[in-house]
Amino acid sequence: MLEVMGLNAGYGEIQILRDLSLTVEPGECVCLVGANGAGKTTLMRSLSGLLRPVGGSIRFDGQELARLSAHDVVTRGVALVPEGRRVFGPLTVRDNLEMGAFRHLWPPNKEKGRHDGFGRDLEFVLTLFPRLRERLQQPAGTLSGGEQQMLAIGRALMTRPKLLLLDEPSMGLAPLVVKEIFATIRALNAEGIAILLAEQNARMALRTASRGYVIAEGRIVNSADTAALQRDPAVQEAYLGF
Ligand SMILES: Nc1ncnc2c1ncn2[C@@H]1O[C@H](COP(=O)(O)OP(=O)(O)OP(=O)(O)O)[C@@H](O)[C@H]1O
Ligand SMILES: [Mg+2]
Repeated sequence: MLEVMGLNAGYGEIQILRDLSLTVEPGECVCLVGANGAGKTTLMRSLSGLLRPVGGSIRFDGQELARLSAHDVVTRGVALVPEGRRVFGPLTVRDNLEMGAFRHLWPPNKEKGRHDGFGRDLEFVLTLFPRLRERLQQPAGTLSGGEQQMLAIGRALMTRPKLLLLDEPSMGLAPLVVKEIFATIRALNAEGIAILLAEQNARMALRTASRGYVIAEGRIVNSADTAALQRDPAVQEAYLGF
């Protein structure tokens, strides 16, 4: 489904990702574990068209994404839930979700009408996150951290992704809320949405995903099914605090 080959990316003269390759198969939940500054966000930004790679390829369902705009990547079925949520604080929860649905709203589809599928997608998100339903008219900036993370995931789901990229969804959240978010990730994966999950919380990520990659200094240094990674002494020492 997703096949990243020999990806090189960075900022100006600074190279961050080095010859990075990974795959995600349809319906899979794959995690990306790495320390601060390892390059997880840089990879997520490259995959979602926010950062143009210098070299290598990103194939998704047989199509090359590496040179597409962020908007075109979304329309191909890849949605990013960015690090730090990035919800639009002054806008209501409903407006934030509607912005996620721009794939259906823009360019306007005159034949089918503006709201084609919107109501159904909104219902899906509000059923998944009942707390958002209670807060539809509330400014997003007044939500708790966990609720903002739910909104960020909901906004991405409004684009009907086939692959969801989650960048540190547990960041800054209390343990109970983290559990809730990871339960949601499992539920979405069970619905058939493929997931690539970048996390510093290696423990939760390795429990949730079926396969994982370890990234260090912009390179993939280890990859295996998550059961094997959890038993790996190097992974235990570096990321699980053994
Ligand atoms: N806009 C930028 N300009 C220059 N360097 C950057 C920029 N953004 C990130 N970097 C550098 O790229 C490297 C990788 O950062 P990145 O954000 O991808 O790491 P990360 O694995 O997501 O870390 P974290 O777990 O802290 O989120 C870091 O050394 C960082 O300083
Ligand atoms: Mg990051």
